[in-house]
Amino acid sequence: MCGIVGYIGHQKACPILIDGLLKLEYRGYDSAGVSTIENNYISNMKDMGRVKNLYNLDGINDLEGSIGIAHTRWATHGKPSKENSHPHMDNSNTFSVVHNGIIENYQELRSFLTSNGYTFKSATDTEVIPNLVHYYFNKDVNNDNKKFLRAVHSACMDLKGSYAIEIICSEFPDCMIVARKDSPLVIGVGEKEKFISSDIPAILSFTKNFYLLNDGDIVQLHTDSIYFYDKNLTPISKDLKNIEWDASAAEKDGYEDYMLKEIYEQPRSVRETIGSTIKAGSLVNFSEINISKEYLSNINNIYIVACGTAMYAGLSAKSLIENLCKLPVCIDIASEFRYRNPIIDEKTLCIYVTQSGETADTIAALKLAKSKGAKTLAISNVIGSSITREADYTIYTHAGPEIAVASTKAFTAQVTLLSVLAIYFAEILGSASNERINTLKTEILSLPSKIEQILELSEEVKSFAHKVYTEHDIFFLGRGTDYAVSMEGSLKLKEISYIHSEAYAAGELKHGPIALIENGITVIGIITSPNLVEKTVSNIQEVITRGAKTFIITSEDIENHNYDKVIKIPKTDSMLSPILSVIPLQLFAYYISKEKGLDVDKPRNLAKSVTVE
Ligand code: M6R
Repeated sequence: MCGIVGYIGHQKACPILIDGLLKLEYRGYDSAGVSTIENNYISNMKDMGRVKNLYNLDGINDLEGSIGIAHTRWATHGKPSKENSHPHMDNSNTFSVVHNGIIENYQELRSFLTSNGYTFKSATDTEVIPNLVHYYFNKDVNNDNKKFLRAVHSACMDLKGSYAIEIICSEFPDCMIVARKDSPLVIGVGEKEKFISSDIPAILSFTKNFYLLNDGDIVQLHTDSIYFYDKNLTPISKDLKNIEWDASAAEKDGYEDYMLKEIYEQPRSVRETIGSTIKAGSLVNFSEINISKEYLSNINNIYIVACGTAMYAGLSAKSLIENLCKLPVCIDIASEFRYRNPIIDEKTLCIYVTQSGETADTIAALKLAKSKGAKTLAISNVIGSSITREADYTIYTHAGPEIAVASTKAFTAQVTLLSVLAIYFAEILGSASNERINTLKTEILSLPSKIEQILELSEEVKSFAHKVYTEHDIFFLGRGTDYAVSMEGSLKLKEISYIHSEAYAAGELKHGPIALIENGITVIGIITSPNLVEKTVSNIQEVITRGAKTFIITSEDIENHNYDKVIKIPKTDSMLSPILSVIPLQLFAYYISKEKGLDVDKPRNLAKSVTVE
């Protein structure tokens, strides 16, 4: 839940580190710090608050070292404070460490170190790491060039939990050690320099060549050399990967906020996610996976497991998969699934949807399904992310880097990919008619241009947001896929506007929620399923009668029964409609947040990647 950056090379490290941290702030932003080495001395500067506050620290511009580590924090152990900020140093100021993850046995390690004379300044789990490294370093009688590496390795062997760590040592000023287990870490390679980061976009402006680390990897870095080891300290080799992303794709491209940029990128991200999977006259093609008819015909059910928006993407696609494949589809929240002993076996296919590919609960839920013999398929937006290394099959959304904490383009890409996957399965199983499949393919191919048409309506959404941004409660109603998208719209609004909001299945209204409706309350109705129009329209009338203001998003030709605002979106198959109807809801949440003067991209208490439970 934190971001880490490292640099070793021939340039001044500090500006490169801060630049990387600024791009990683979506991972956490309650405190930040840097350590660099110069003349065998580690300077450690850190404070509470945003990364940009680092520029105000006395002497930070004088740091000349060309090796350094840096961190932006999202507190887990210990409140946000200067003492709890990273980097953390050992008692002798020989080692400095930044860490992302959680050390589960830190209390035990702390007691062990305390009994060996070590003291602690912070309330963090991380501070045990530099002291543990120091402990092993001092015990090692061999003074060769692997001494630092061995000490880090021994310390890692004692750590339980998750970590991505970078460590520097004043006695080895030309070397940095990094290691990972269950937390992301990549190494970018330049000309006689290395850039280390929690993710690729943060250092993409420096290099396009990356090494992706696996769990248990430990790496010794020098300006012009790099040595990889596995968890047993056995040397291993790795392939350098060339990442095609353009650095400017990770910038704001002139938009006021990342979220708005990402909303407007959706015609492209949906188009790129469809990619070459659908071609006229051919079966759906997923070259990355090869699922056999024999396997699929033996499946009894499908689970889609995820968190937050990714889970709503699963819910939005459920009907289409069931309808085409004639298989029951259960949607589950990863943090629930992993602890309730779900009934799954080798006849269950478990699909895990995650933009980042690093969400701790989703990864744990996948490991659980594997242990029960189920096959697992990951849908991720990040190549080489942790989940992709665990899953039996992986397919990628091609939404490009998503920086805003509130997920937008990842959602539409996920629903698109799940829809194409439903067709792929149906073609293998022969469970849907060619006519139905061809209609759906044509509809999917037309989605990007329909999204473009909806984006042109943004001023209308903005004007309604202006009318209601001071409200305290906003409700969303829908049926079928419109209910799934209502939940996503409500989540978006909560996240970035801090307005209390709920989504209800419209048919549930009379079973309780209608008691909340009173004069002036805003209700947003989503109406895109032709067979449910009359039903939802009646429910909306019931709230209007009780004084509600209504904002309707519809693809249908409904009469205006005193609605305050109607946004007419293009028609599509009702099972694909979440990919379109969510767009006005994303814009609505965005404009409400802007009207309230909030930080749209970095809402309070939230981080982009939830890599801890
Ligand atoms: O990276 P993931 O897709 O696994 O993330 C899952 C959720 O944490 C994420 O969708 C979260 O709900 C977003 N902030 C929603 O906008």
